Amino acid sequence: MRDSRGSLHIQGVEKNFALPQGDLRVLAGIDLEVAAGEFIVLVGKSGCGKSTLLRLIGGLETPSRGEIRLGDKGIEGPGLERGMVFQEPRLFPWMTAWENIAFGLRAGTEAKEGEATVGKYLSLVGLSGFEGAYPHQISGGMQQRAALARALVSRPEVLLLDEPFGALDALTRIQMQLEILRIWKESKGTVILVTHDIDEAVFLGDRIAVMSDRPGTFRDILPVKLPRPRDRSSAPFVKIRRKIYNEFFHSTRKEG
Ligand SMILES: Nc1ncnc2c1ncn2[C@@H]1O[C@H](COP(=O)(O)OP(=O)(O)OP(=O)(O)O)[C@@H](O)[C@H]1O
Ligand SMILES: [Mg+2]
Repeated sequence: MRDSRGSLHIQGVEKNFALPQGDLRVLAGIDLEVAAGEFIVLVGKSGCGKSTLLRLIGGLETPSRGEIRLGDKGIEGPGLERGMVFQEPRLFPWMTAWENIAFGLRAGTEAKEGEATVGKYLSLVGLSGFEGAYPHQISGGMQQRAALARALVSRPEVLLLDEPFGALDALTRIQMQLEILRIWKESKGTVILVTHDIDEAVFLGDRIAVMSDRPGTFRDILPVKLPRPRDRSSAPFVKIRRKIYNEFFHSTRKEG
């Protein structure tokens, strides 16, 4: 049984939004099999449907067609087995960093265990000393790290990360990429990460799903078979990065 935990099956998924001027087709024919413990990165231009796909997996939206299963269970609404970090931190402004992170604990977690878990992830994301601070008292990047810790404390089977490092400066971003790899290795969970940063995609992913413009489909799914930690300046790394850049360049040319 344990083997299917965290495996994701996305079959024939389409998503349309009803707008006053007619239906907006956002995703078309999305198929993806994700093995338990795999690290998938989604890249694509703004508006191609990356967040929508993540929200579908998170159970915050339902597909117009097709199905998404986690292991052998169809997804029906959100659940703590799928931890989500949004493009914006979305912390509760009336709660401290500690309280926000503790909010992610599973119901019925024993108090002592909960305290230890919150403390562990708070320090893992580099927020020790700020446990009593409210969201408006910490920086945007720190808020995003608190949101990451909130998603991690329930030890989700699947971690859904929507451009989680967008608000971070370049150095913190690199540090967080390393932290995510460490957390991923330790938890053996599945990760689906959205980014517009191709360097980040090649640094992190087992496979990179390159999305077309709206309606989003997978233009290509590239395996990255480089050992970790990856050297961003190595020839094979640069080659994969260039291949992805070219995919976008060609799509731009086709439009023009
Ligand atoms: N709830 C909604 N109702 C109507 N349209 C929506 C809704 N959510 C998303 N859309 C539309 O779907 C398209 C894809 O949006 P989405 O947020 O998934 O893009 P994205 O790839 O994440 O872009 P970005 O990189 O800018 O975050 C956009 O045209 C957006 O306007
Ligand atoms: Mg988005």
